[in-house]
Amino acid sequence: MSISTENRQRLIDAAIRVRKLAYAPYSEFQVGASLLSTSGELFTGCNVENVSYGLTICAERVAIANAVSQGERAFQGMALCTSSAGTPCGACSQVLAEFVSGEFPVLILDPTGIVRQELTLNDLLPIRFALPKVPSDQEGAN
Ligand code: THU
Repeated sequence: MSISTENRQRLIDAAIRVRKLAYAPYSEFQVGASLLSTSGELFTGCNVENVSYGLTICAERVAIANAVSQGERAFQGMALCTSSAGTPCGACSQVLAEFVSGEFPVLILDPTGIVRQELTLNDLLPIRFALPKVPSDQEGAN
């Protein structure tokens, strides 16, 4: 299912807007992420840094947690807005993989909302962690 023109614009506008709310005093790199559910709801997230740097949360994971905590688990697209039109990190791609398939589209935006790249989860993280069907720790347990 491809995203409608109207919904693409909603994703873009939301990612630009939420980027301005980023709390990034350490890196000064602001990230805005928007996520559109299959039911047409928009969810957003920005990066939230911490003085203990490793505790920083990426924008994409904030958006995903925001959506899931409001009862949404099915998504049709994401947009990511940064000054460099950068792509999601591997950790965020793995978290996204929990909820979407390989064809899921991610719009990569510059700060003005121009779509610099349109990637899929498969592009971003072609090989993803998954648990084995039968956990090896349980092999032969029964
Ligand atoms: N960051 C994100 O929000 N998303 C990513 O996919 C990668 C990086 C944030 C974390 C940190 O606040 C800043 O960008 C610089 O790494």
